[in-house]
Amino acid sequence: MQVIKCVFQPHGDNRGQLVALEEFKDIPFRIRRVYYMYETTEGVIRGFHAHKTLQQVVVCVHGSCKIRLDNGKEKTVITLDKPNEGLYIPNSFWREIFDFSPDAVLMVLASDLYDENDYIRNYDDYLEYLKKCDDTPLADNL
Ligand code: TYD
Repeated sequence: MQVIKCVFQPHGDNRGQLVALEEFKDIPFRIRRVYYMYETTEGVIRGFHAHKTLQQVVVCVHGSCKIRLDNGKEKTVITLDKPNEGLYIPNSFWREIFDFSPDAVLMVLASDLYDENDYIRNYDDYLEYLKKCDDTPLADNL
């Protein structure tokens, strides 16, 4: 599975580091929402969903965590442990986020506002959804 990691240029000097993220430049979509997770309880696995249309870039701005990405055919695990590195998650990818370090702060940049209708929260529904997408003639998607 092809995974797109974005490495952000830190603007470091003797005061420390600074990373700036701009839509369409560092982030491949218009940023319409930012949220972040912190103080994650030890052993918790978050996510367990896919999005029909939403695109995201996730950045572990402090600490570390792992993300399992699944496109219905292949799965891969990516470690996020650098504040200047992001993982691009296209729509239609199932994700599970785990192994949060106690100090982890996971920031998510999202291409749209929160919309529960965009979520697929059941794995069997997700596989059905992918099958339906595959079966849809291209012209019907236009
Ligand atoms: P949830 O979707 O359970 O998080 P995840 O699946 O990524 O582990 O979200 C937790 C709660 O936060 C839930 O009540 C919905 C709310 N929420 C918002 O209000 N806005 C948001 O942008 C997000 C991502 C969640």
